[in-house]
Order: sequence, then structure tokens, then C-alpha cells
Amino acid sequence: MMLPPKLRPLLLFLVSQMAVFILFIHLYNHNNFNSSSTREEPQPMHVLILSSWRSGSSFVGQLFGQHPDVFYLMEPAWHVWMTFTQSTPRSLHMAVRDLIRSVFLCDMSVFDAYMKPGPQKQSSLFLWETSRALCTAPACNIFPQDTITNPDNCRLLCSQEPFEVVEKACRNYSHVVLKEVRFFNLQVLYPLLRDPSLNLHIVHLVRDPRAVFHSREHTTNELMIDSQIVMRQEQQKLQEDDKPYYVMQIICQSQLEIYKAVQTLPEDLKQRYLLMRYEDLVRKPLAQTARLYDYAGLKFLPHLQTWVHNITQGKGTGSHPFKTESRDAVSTSQAWRLSLPYKKVSRLQEACGKAMNMLGYRLIRSEQEQRNLSLDLLSTWTP
Ligand SMILES: *[C@@H]1O[C@H](CO)[C@@H](O)[C@H](O)[C@H]1NC(C)=O
Ligand SMILES: *[C@@H]1O[C@H](CO)[C@@H](O)[C@H](O)[C@H]1NC(C)=O
Ligand SMILES: *[C@@H]1O[C@H](CO)[C@@H](O)[C@H](O)[C@H]1NC(C)=O
Ligand SMILES: *[C@@H]1O[C@H](CO)[C@@H](O)[C@H](O)[C@H]1NC(C)=O
Repeated sequence: MMLPPKLRPLLLFLVSQMAVFILFIHLYNHNNFNSSSTREEPQPMHVLILSSWRSGSSFVGQLFGQHPDVFYLMEPAWHVWMTFTQSTPRSLHMAVRDLIRSVFLCDMSVFDAYMKPGPQKQSSLFLWETSRALCTAPACNIFPQDTITNPDNCRLLCSQEPFEVVEKACRNYSHVVLKEVRFFNLQVLYPLLRDPSLNLHIVHLVRDPRAVFHSREHTTNELMIDSQIVMRQEQQKLQEDDKPYYVMQIICQSQLEIYKAVQTLPEDLKQRYLLMRYEDLVRKPLAQTARLYDYAGLKFLPHLQTWVHNITQGKGTGSHPFKTESRDAVSTSQAWRLSLPYKKVSRLQEACGKAMNMLGYRLIRSEQEQRNLSLDLLSTWTP
């Protein structure tokens, strides 16, 4: 085939464009192949804050929840426990596990079983207003995603949104973070750690049991139903005075078992666990928050740094059990030393001593030691 000389440059041009195009396709496929074959973990990131009542988990939940990349829910398993109040933690474990798995995958139909029939609002979810994601777009278009939200304003302006926005919002985020106090061992979570559709990372938050005990004394009524479930088998046999110590013993035992079980995990799964002592967090809020974010693959954005500084340096009492207010967190965490009678502390140390030793909380041997605030009860301890 002969082309007129005038057309030859055009042909050359077309051929060269074709070559560039083929090269582009090749590189594109090549890249694609690489990214899908070397990608070990699925997106998004799933973080479970594993803790117990009155251990600062609402605070840690807020640290995650206020991040604009995070969809956060507080205590989704509350719905399970409040549906089966005559049950035991052990018999509810599997239902709780299956619930959080579905929620991590943004399948919110799982809540159907625990809500009354008929159309729901997003406000049917327990403490929904503590989730920034449910107070900002696309769940509630009044606030943009990167605002620090306040539960009171959110309840006022966002409570009429239909339940469907929860799922829609969840799918909008790269990170799903759930906080739970209703797991009592790690074994129940093994299937989720190995689940290829999840990318589960655990933040295990512990707190000095003496501070927990002190805080629980002020929230006995709020915790009544939960405590009854925790005590279930023994409840009839126990004296009224013994009950708080028995509940603490079960909680301390389960914290210890979770910590020990991690030591037996294979190396790759150990990377999916981070232990955080609440006391370390309140002493160095910015550094420890950076550690949490780093673990979860989140950027510590400037507006969050200011906010963390604000809420940890501010004054306030934080008296409501489910509220995270500005407060002098360091002195709050020492309050038990001045207000608990030594006799109670001593008795609690008998119930929780093993866990305290393991987690680096020094036992006190006298009332004098307890009241002497220059005596540091936190062992330096590297996770
Ligand atoms: C794709 O993977 C191969 C083999 O691991 C590697 O040599 C190549 O550089 C990768 N290409 C890209 C674009 O990442
Ligand atoms: C997330 O929500 C924003 C704000 O409504 C929207 O513009 C964006 O398209 C959503 N992204 C995804 C991945 O759904
Ligand atoms: C921090 O506190 C200052 C002073 O009260 C306030 O102006 C600012 O808006 C706060 N910033 C955040 C991010 O909370
Ligand atoms: C309080 O503890 C500090 C640090 O251990 C110690 O030096 C001091 O003597 C103690 N004070 C009293 C009154 O026991």
C-alpha cells in the first residue's frame, strides 16, 4: 500500500499515539495487578476498643470518633444485653460478636432483632449522638464532616434522620471504630481476627481497678442491669456488700485473660493488638493519642491536636457516666486515693491483685501509702 507523501507524517503520528496508548494500557494493568496482588489487608480499617465500664473508653471513643475519617459507634452490643437481661455474658458473647462483625461491615440490618418493629430513626441507636459521623454529612447535612461535634447540639438537630442514614454514613468512611465493654475473653474474637473480610485491630484499654471501683460506686444505678448480667450465676448467693467486689473480680480476671491470650497469638496477629493504660493516656494525652492514631493509620490533624489539648487541660467534673467533658483528667484519676476507705482498697486489691501486677499498677500496703500522692502507683512499663 502506498500513501501519498502528504499523508505520511499523519500515519507516523497515529502509529506513535497508538504505541503510547498500548504502553499506557500495559502499565495500567500492570499497576492494577500489583496493587491487587500485594494488597494484604482489605479496606477499610476496623478498630475495636475493648474495655470495661468506667475505664475511660468513652474518652478514647471520642478520640477516634471525632476524626473525620472515622465512623464510630459506642456500645452497639448494649442492644443485645438489654434485650436479654436474664442472660449471662458468656451466653451473649456470640450474639455480640456477630453484631459487631455486621456493624464493621456496615450492615445495620443486624439491629432489627433488637429494636421494636416498624421504621426507625437513627436516634433509635444507643448513644448515637456521641458519633460525629451520625451528626455530620452525609447522615446529617447540617454539620460538615470535619467539625468537632457536641452531643447536645447533635441531638437537637439530627435526631429526625431515618435509620437508613446510619448505613449510608458508615459506607462513607475508611475507618470503622466500635467501642465495647461487653467482651470477657479474647477467644470469642479469634474468628474476627482471622476473617478475610475484616481488617480488625484491637485497642485494649485498661484502667487502675481502684479508680474503676471508685467510679462505679457513683454510677451503681446506671450499671445495675449490666452488673446483674455479669453476676448472674452467683447473684443469689452473694451478700449485698460483696457484690461490687465480685463484679470487679470478674472484670479484672477477664482483662487479665485477654492480656495473657494475646501473648500466645502468632506474631502477625500480635500486631493487631495495642494495650493502652488510661493513666498513661491522661498523663501524656497528645503523645498517646498520636500512638493510637498511628496504630489505626489515621493522621493527627491540627484541629484535633488543639481539641485534644483543650479537653484534657480544661476543668470540669465529668459527673455523668456517659459523657466526656473537659476535665482535669490527671487529678480525676487520683480521686480514689483520697475518697476510698483503705479497707475497701485493700479488699479490692485481693480481688484484682493479679491483674494489677500484670498491668503495672502498684499495690498499696497502708493507708499512709494510699493518701501520699507523691507516691507514684503507676509502674513504668513498656508495652
Ligand atoms: C510490580 O511487581 C513487580 C514484582 O514484584 C515489581 O518488580 C514491579 O516493580 C512492580 N511494579 C509496580 C508498578 O509497582
Ligand atoms: C461521602 O459523603 C460526602 C458528603 O455527603 C459525599 O460528597 C461523598 O461522595 C461520599 N463518599 C462516598 C465514598 O460515599
Ligand atoms: C480550644 O479552646 C479555645 C479556647 O477556649 C477555643 O477558642 C477553640 O475553639 C478550641 N478549639 C477546639 C478545636 O476545640
Ligand atoms: C510519700 O512518698 C514519697 C515518695 O515515695 C516519700 O519520699 C515520702 O517520704 C512519703 N511521705 C510520707 C509522709 O509518707
